[in-house]
Amino acid sequence: MITRQLKEIAIKEVQLHDTYNDIWIILFNRVYDVTAFLHEHPGGYEVLLEYAGRDASLAFLGAGHDSVPMASLQNYLVGILPESEHLNLPFPDWNNRLKEFES
Ligand code: HEM
Repeated sequence: MITRQLKEIAIKEVQLHDTYNDIWIILFNRVYDVTAFLHEHPGGYEVLLEYAGRDASLAFLGAGHDSVPMASLQNYLVGILPESEHLNLPFPDWNNRLKEFES
């Protein structure tokens, strides 16, 4: 279990990190810095680049990812969107799993 206060990061800021050398993506209202992971990603760097500075939740779900351990996602977590910018996507399963892990 990890206990930490997630920093609030606005979408406007996430959008600035949209290059090969500095890439953030949003998954389930959380912000991930995947710069160091780009070339480690089993699904290739291209798909991550495609979502640089954007929300990749649907693509992430569409690609499966059932075997991605929560702990590995936490390595790249840098913050959470402010409540007012949360997407109301129906992903209760992932959302609950991540919340549980973070609390
Ligand atoms: C922090 C973000 C991400 C992490 C930690 C991550 C991690 C992983 C891991 C561990 C795998 C191999 C195991 C599995 O398939 O469950 C994988 C596969 C894959 N990922 Fe990701 N992923 C991320 C984001 C994305 C995004 C945004 C896409 C967009 C489409 C994507 C597309 C894929 C695809 C297509 C595969 C399958 C590769 C294959 O079986 O050949 N991933 N990812």
